[in-house]
Amino acid sequence: MYKKLMACVESIREKTDFKPEVALILGSGLGDYADGIKVEAVVDYSDIEGFPVSTVAGHKGRFVFGYVGEVPVVIMQGRVHYYEGYPMSDVVLPTRLMGMLGAKKLFLTNAAGGMNESFKPGTFMMITDHITTAVPSPLIGPNVEELGCRFPDMSEVYSKRLRDVIRKSAEECGIEVREGVYVQLTGPNYETPAEIRMCRAWGGDAVGMSTACEAMAARHMGMEVCGISCITNLAAGISKVKLDHKEVQETADRVSAEFKKLVTQIIVNM
Ligand code: HPA
Repeated sequence: MYKKLMACVESIREKTDFKPEVALILGSGLGDYADGIKVEAVVDYSDIEGFPVSTVAGHKGRFVFGYVGEVPVVIMQGRVHYYEGYPMSDVVLPTRLMGMLGAKKLFLTNAAGGMNESFKPGTFMMITDHITTAVPSPLIGPNVEELGCRFPDMSEVYSKRLRDVIRKSAEECGIEVREGVYVQLTGPNYETPAEIRMCRAWGGDAVGMSTACEAMAARHMGMEVCGISCITNLAAGISKVKLDHKEVQETADRVSAEFKKLVTQIIVNM
């Protein structure tokens, strides 16, 4: 795993020596955020030896290096999901790679289903904590000592400091940001109403198919992590209509201008 990771680092270093401070992973609907920044370099996933390439429609597959304000960033335009069939170690490889390239902070975004009854499609939820009990840990397997320790602490995955930054930035933008716990399931199917009741009883506010594994891998290697979910739909059983990817994308697109403004403000304040 570490050898593969180092080969990916080398592959990128052949193309650019850009050193990012912040790594940003874009979820559904935010895909074109990278088009609006000051771009310094672009590396397609398909040009990186051994790199897992996303197969989901609407997910581009490339790293964009550049500046948000004065902040050097690397943006993952299109993430890799567990449901695509990759092992968890491959799903989090891009996250680790961005850490190896120098990023000390990771900003995660995603589209998620709302389980908290006070959420609506279009609500932004700052992730305060997560539950990954239903998916394999990305840290299973021989521990890579170069990255982190065997039994890493997970008592503050989403940095308290960055949570304050998000609250302050939201206020500055005049955008309401709710807070809650994200539950990661495997997908690709949406949940049953009974599964949603279970996740709600566990203490979850939003449900999705990504993010928490990336947060875990990043914490393992000591990165500072934060995240925001865009609630694109009410979860199964709470929603009166059947779930489909089109609704997810439509909501994400509808609020994307606001989301981009918020993301920019947060990065500048980080
Ligand atoms: N469930 C799981 N993942 C999701 C959902 C959902 O309702 N909406 C967007 N991603």
